[in-house]
Amino acid sequence: MNVTHLECAACGLRHEARRLHNLCRQCGKPLLVRYDLQTAAVSLTKESLKARGPDLWRYREVLPVESDANIVSLGEGFTPLVRASRLGERLGLDQLYIKDEGQNPTQSFKARGMAAAVSMAKELGATKIAVPSAGNAAGALAAYAARAGLEAFIFMPRDTPRANVIECEQTGAHVTLMHGLITDCGAEVARRKDAEGWFDVSTLKEPYRIEGKKTMGYELAEQFDWELPDVIIYPTGGGTGLIGMWKSFDEMEQMGWIGSTRPRMITVQAAGCAPIVKAFEEGKRFADEFPDAHTTASGLRVPRAIGDFMILDALRASAGTAVAVTDEELIDATKEIGAAEGIFCAPEGAACLPALRKLIANGSVKSDDRVVLFNTGSGVKYLESFSS
Ligand SMILES: Cc1ncc(COP(=O)(O)O)c(C=O)c1O
Ligand SMILES: [Zn+2]
Repeated sequence: MNVTHLECAACGLRHEARRLHNLCRQCGKPLLVRYDLQTAAVSLTKESLKARGPDLWRYREVLPVESDANIVSLGEGFTPLVRASRLGERLGLDQLYIKDEGQNPTQSFKARGMAAAVSMAKELGATKIAVPSAGNAAGALAAYAARAGLEAFIFMPRDTPRANVIECEQTGAHVTLMHGLITDCGAEVARRKDAEGWFDVSTLKEPYRIEGKKTMGYELAEQFDWELPDVIIYPTGGGTGLIGMWKSFDEMEQMGWIGSTRPRMITVQAAGCAPIVKAFEEGKRFADEFPDAHTTASGLRVPRAIGDFMILDALRASAGTAVAVTDEELIDATKEIGAAEGIFCAPEGAACLPALRKLIANGSVKSDDRVVLFNTGSGVKYLESFSS
């Protein structure tokens, strides 16, 4: 086990690794896991990876679980990086790819984060786990908690897609539907967790979901033969995947696997809920809560993100940007990607396509850029968003 400690992303305060933590005890911001990467790099090598299994645990040395016996797995990670030649040609791009996270267990990238978080909760002795969710995180938590033999308590907005509610019920979770947004669900978990004995696994309020999600960055590097793409377009709600990938690039550089060049990181949000886009455009480091948040892409209905400054720092440090697209654009894009490439995207993932069109139109993306769109989930979960 190569974890040395946890470190606050804002004030840098050191926290001890081997116990349950939520936010920094000094400033209330997210904690990041730090590793002894020199030791990790002794057995985790580009060569040794060739013989390892096709899931995210292939990066075992840079994941936080101590004992293999505590790993809770359903085969998450190592998803296909699909070349999108037909779409690429339409857009005038030579190298366009879709990372298809819809092929994870429970059909979204949330499986990665929850595999890591539930494994760690089990290892550190939690028995009841609670989460506020826009839907896909809930489905993933319910499945991994069931697999671990732990109890899951899930709070979702009433207008969460039906499939997410049903999958949680069918995998044995306690489900509460609330009026309001994911932020209201988060407040309910925070209010009740001490009395109920719940461990809160809200995104970035516990340190391990991001460790599962950072493996998307390791996979991209490995699948591109250790050369990162020029542009990564990522549908951003809480931003854990984007922050996680950004962290993975630093870790890989410290292990000597990649150089200091970074992809331009692009956040996509829905026009009806675009707090990060607004803060980026206004030059702010922290985002204001977005009023009257609405979009059919439920995973993007996140009016306030605790990791806002981490997202915005990564966008700026990478010379990236933030783009908003309308619901009409993202729903139309689902069909366009589906018909051109055979991938039935979640609306959040489809939002990457109209964002890319805008970036090509304004000259930010060029024809020879290698571009990756993140399809973060499966359209199958969102049947009510599509009229046939
Ligand atoms: C399919 C999908 N895409 C994107 C997001 C946003 O993810 P993140 O919170 O990591 O930014 C979510 C979150 O619920 C989601 O379900
Ligand atoms: Zn702090």
